[in-house]
Amino acid sequence: MHVLLIGEGQLGGALRAVFEGDDFSSQRTDARKAPRFRLTIWRRPEFDIAHPEIAERVAALAPDVVINAAAWTNVDAAESNPDAAYAVNALGPKYLAEGCEQCGAALVHVSTNEVFPGQPGRFYREYDPCDAHSVYARSKLAGERAVMALCRRFYIVRVAWLFGPGGVNFPSKIIAAADQRGALRVVADEFGNPTYAPDAADAIARLMLTNRFGVYHLVNEGWCSRYEFACQVLANSGRSHIPVTPISHEEWPRPAQPPLHAVLVNQAAAALGIRLRPWREAVEIYCRRAFMPTK
Ligand SMILES: NC(=O)c1ccc[n+]([C@@H]2O[C@H](COP(=O)([O-])OP(=O)(O)OC[C@H]3O[C@@H](n4cnc5c(N)ncnc54)[C@H](OP(=O)(O)O)[C@@H]3O)[C@@H](O)[C@H]2O)c1
Repeated sequence: MHVLLIGEGQLGGALRAVFEGDDFSSQRTDARKAPRFRLTIWRRPEFDIAHPEIAERVAALAPDVVINAAAWTNVDAAESNPDAAYAVNALGPKYLAEGCEQCGAALVHVSTNEVFPGQPGRFYREYDPCDAHSVYARSKLAGERAVMALCRRFYIVRVAWLFGPGGVNFPSKIIAAADQRGALRVVADEFGNPTYAPDAADAIARLMLTNRFGVYHLVNEGWCSRYEFACQVLANSGRSHIPVTPISHEEWPRPAQPPLHAVLVNQAAAALGIRLRPWREAVEIYCRRAFMPTK
């Protein structure tokens, strides 16, 4: 199976490791027992998904599957750069969908829990109606809609609070702030699903082999507040002595207010036997590898 991977950030790096057979994750997967993958990776500036000709370049390569792990991911900066965010997050997947349709490739497009409004107490399944608020979230929703409209063989994979090796993410920022300041204030009324990039990558590789196209939520099992996530990271990285004060989101204003309770439920992939381990286990593995003090 010839896989074209676009974007080599946190998730793209984890996907590359899965397809090249590195053991980032301690979870064994069917993907590694499955037919061998031939991997092509496209990076910018040579391959920029915001340029229309990417469609013809995909069609000319004619892979079996395209995975779009590229995105504008700076949520706050999107507020003041909407055209640039839309170019990557909405037009990019549109062009990739056109290219996939031309050559018959399947498209795996990665999206976000932020396409949901995040009403307090709500848990969102794959078929729930979307209502995106920030510029970033609206651009991602536009990308989903383009893929659904233009490509018949698609997997839209929504993930949530991504963290993984080498990335700048919530756990790495918590560790850096703890080491610099010695005490933390963390928002306790924003809830979501921590998603370990290697686990999501394993799950994507397994999903791709099913040929059951559609919308999927691939997040680690369970959910939590930012405060609980931070406390788990500190506990698993030898920093449980760091005091953490829970605060409200109003005490931590941001240019793009994230949805407060955009908690995803994995119903569709779970029905195919594809589940990610509980988030606390994933955080423990990540921290043990990345942040435990060395003696
Ligand atoms: N991070 C999260 O917490 C989170 C939460 C929910 C959903 N998601 C979604 O998950 C996916 C992966 O996120 P991530 O955290 O792995 O992202 P990331 O680490 O920020 O990586 C994004 C990648 O996209 C590439 N890229 C950006 N613009 C591009 C363009 N015009 N053409 C080609 N490549 C381009 C970047 O290349 P450069 O290295 O050159 O910049 C980078 O390799 C995204 O769809 C994101 O929306 C992320």
